[in-house]
Amino acid sequence: MDNITFLGKQLKNPLVLASGILGNNAKILERVHKAGCGLVTLKSIGPAPRDGHRNPTVIDLGGGMINAVGLPTPGYDHMDAEWQALADRDFPVNASIYGGSVAEFVKVAQFVSDQGPDFIEINISCPNSDHHGMLFGVDEKAAFAVTNAVKKVISVPLIAKLTPAAPDIGKIAKVCEDAGADAICAINTAGPGMVIDIEARTPVLAFKKGGLSGPMIKPVAVRCVYDIYRAVSIPIIGLGGVTTGEDAVEMFMAGATLVGMGSAVRYRGIHVFDLVYRELTDWLAAHHFTRDDIIGAAHNPIAGPDSTAKKSRKTP
Ligand SMILES: Cc1cc2nc3c(=O)[nH]c(=O)nc-3n(C[C@H](O)[C@H](O)[C@H](O)COP(=O)(O)O)c2cc1C
Repeated sequence: MDNITFLGKQLKNPLVLASGILGNNAKILERVHKAGCGLVTLKSIGPAPRDGHRNPTVIDLGGGMINAVGLPTPGYDHMDAEWQALADRDFPVNASIYGGSVAEFVKVAQFVSDQGPDFIEINISCPNSDHHGMLFGVDEKAAFAVTNAVKKVISVPLIAKLTPAAPDIGKIAKVCEDAGADAICAINTAGPGMVIDIEARTPVLAFKKGGLSGPMIKPVAVRCVYDIYRAVSIPIIGLGGVTTGEDAVEMFMAGATLVGMGSAVRYRGIHVFDLVYRELTDWLAAHHFTRDDIIGAAHNPIAGPDSTAKKSRKTP
């Protein structure tokens, strides 16, 4: 399972660091790579400096987390030191970007593409901001427009990150594929949800509502990846609640080509990538499967190495 190819780039394994988790600077990204992660994703970069929301912004609910960090960013053109530090890296990087309009997405995408990331991921799915949120990811026309416009100005593969809030996530994924996306990433946080402090009679998060992540959303994420796999032929990065090797197997069986983790870093530490990689390879060996055998396997009800569903798909 070592050294796989994804959209023409070499990755040491199929595990991905989700955006917004330890993705703020080059040094930490390097540590995550060394801790066993195949592809690291930067925290979403926006068009202008932005503080994000007041604390509290993240609460651990036990079976997962709720957050409304609010897309804090130094702004795409205030990151010289980070771009320089990333320029000489020896590991692949996925740069996540956001904007409040198609024009803003295009401006950020063009600049970021010139900094040499291996992939650009458009975050059209964040539930935690009034103006930079999931609006593009729940509307087919808007999803097409932003994907199409960004695709025209970048020179690296384009990944569209989708929200489970879409009424039909398969349709949104198909529209992104038609508009030129090279891969789909699913899912961003679910919800939004709310937690109320009953003694203070007030929502706990300063922003009141927040996105859900971690184990509690895994069934939603698996369903979304399953729906997307049926709708598109481009590869899928499946994430949402994955914490163990068996969770990763489930995500591959739903149709993921790569599997991402975010909240799992909170639950198992930075070495979760190494741990999950080992659990995954052990599971595959014990079942005499390769990763290719299990990708999309849940779309064929008959289990077994010779009977896995293999649709005609573009080579990742
Ligand atoms: C604290 C926090 C910050 C996040 N920030 C971003 C972000 O900047 N951009 C983005 O696309 N997703 C962001 N996400 C969503 C994650 O990338 C991921 O899609 C989501 O948490 C589901 O995966 P998980 O259950 O493995 O955490 C954030 C999630 C958390 C918990």
